[in-house]
Amino acid sequence: MDPIQIESGQRYLTRINPKRIPHIFTDVLIIGGGIAGSRAALQIDPRLETIIVNKGKVTQSNSAYAQGGIAGVLDPLDDISNHIEDTLAAGKDLCNRELVEHVCQEAPRHIRELIEYGADFDKQDGKLALTKEGGHSHRRVAHALGDATGKELMRALVSAVENRPSIQTWTKTPTLDLVTEEGKCRGAIIWNRYHGKTLIWAKQVILATGGAGCLFRETTNPALATGDGHALAFRAGALLQDMEFMQFHPTVLYIAGGARYLVSEAVRGEGAYLRDSNGVRFMSEYHPDLELAHRDVVSRAITDRMLKTNHSCVYLDLTHLKRSLIRERFPNISEVCASFGLDLSKDQIPVRPGAHYMIGGVKTDLEARTSVPHLWAAGEVTSSGLHGSNRLASNSLLEGLIFGAAAGKGASAAALSQPDQFSASLLPEWDSEKGSDEDLDSDDLRNSLASLMWRDVGITRSAESLKDAKEKVDFWSRYVVNREFKTLSGWELQNMLLVAQLMIASAIERRESRGVHYRSDFPETDAAFQKHISVIANS
Ligand code: SIN
Repeated sequence: MDPIQIESGQRYLTRINPKRIPHIFTDVLIIGGGIAGSRAALQIDPRLETIIVNKGKVTQSNSAYAQGGIAGVLDPLDDISNHIEDTLAAGKDLCNRELVEHVCQEAPRHIRELIEYGADFDKQDGKLALTKEGGHSHRRVAHALGDATGKELMRALVSAVENRPSIQTWTKTPTLDLVTEEGKCRGAIIWNRYHGKTLIWAKQVILATGGAGCLFRETTNPALATGDGHALAFRAGALLQDMEFMQFHPTVLYIAGGARYLVSEAVRGEGAYLRDSNGVRFMSEYHPDLELAHRDVVSRAITDRMLKTNHSCVYLDLTHLKRSLIRERFPNISEVCASFGLDLSKDQIPVRPGAHYMIGGVKTDLEARTSVPHLWAAGEVTSSGLHGSNRLASNSLLEGLIFGAAAGKGASAAALSQPDQFSASLLPEWDSEKGSDEDLDSDDLRNSLASLMWRDVGITRSAESLKDAKEKVDFWSRYVVNREFKTLSGWELQNMLLVAQLMIASAIERRESRGVHYRSDFPETDAAFQKHISVIANS
């Protein structure tokens, strides 16, 4: 199927005068310092100069927020073929089998390598402790700090990165655009807090910017997850696919006024029940796997139950579990709940679904190559083909790790064979008629967008809701896209509107229900749609 061609609006978000801004030269530029970006950096030959630019602090990434763990066959009673089959079953006939086999085979080696980098996984009787999550036929999820796996893995990787003198990390440095020349990626325009707009020229660029959960009102993601990498790759001409597939996590803490905090699937993996507001344990009415059915099933069941009971949430019940298990396995979730006066071992915990993981993204191959020469990508910003239409729990850190390493390896080899020549003759083209951002309240528009996406492009979609979303997003885009913003919130808004357009166009095209994409007007899976929907900028 040919890609859908979509008007990208302006090629570059901002004007620059190359004679007036600083230029930096490096061998490899990595955009994003989560698990994929950090692991990529460690794969770059130390003879090469590497710069990692990070929009926020490393603690603000989806990688660092990850709770449940990282999946891999580490128990002799399990088998790699089980991990492969579980991943394929979750993906509902849309995974790339060859790639799934590669990832599941590589998983144990990459987890052991993390241990060599210093990651301290939780243990039981001297062995790695393994938990279960939805869709896994065996206990194969390794975890750390009880329920803060991402924090511990990032600590180990960041410390390994800091020990490499050839790698510099710049935090609080958003990327505005990739710079391309004759279709090849040459670097990026970034914003630096000391010098403002800055051009970084790089022989090879790795995109590892993470997700886009903030396009939706309810999300587990940090505020920085605004789909920037998806948007800037699209403007640079990259092919994106599966943009209709946003995964909704079933259990996000729902307390009015409180931040939407993830309550890990591992809580259900250790035996917690889901109950409705009448105290009924309802999952048996929806799926034989009960609370550990695939995430899309559980999210839809919860939404249905909220409607049927006319209540704004459902409840996680851990009261039948041992207090010592709860304390040991979920120290951080316990602490957050306690800050709202809730005791996991006594109280029912209010939860409902929220946008969690962007399955769609920049199309990459087994070696993390994108369709744009000199541009590699890894992690949540990509669509590698691992997840199909529904990601298996705890396969995301794994994907970031394996394809981060692949991107680092590929970029390193390519940069080593490139001479030290940089073309400084490039000027981003711009339209001198651009309006300014002075009369626009970007925060207000961002909130309206997130509410619209939650209502119309959320867990349940239809031709009607998608049409409504398209009309509004197109209208907002018309007066936002061609302005020149001076602040991060404005650039984020422009990126979010573009990514929303890509999601809506893809969701309109997929006239069936599959995995996380559920259409009330086409509730069945249709074999005619066992294919990827891709999007590309109309140039
Ligand atoms: C969780 O802990 O429930 C999230 C893990 C994941 O998204 O894979």
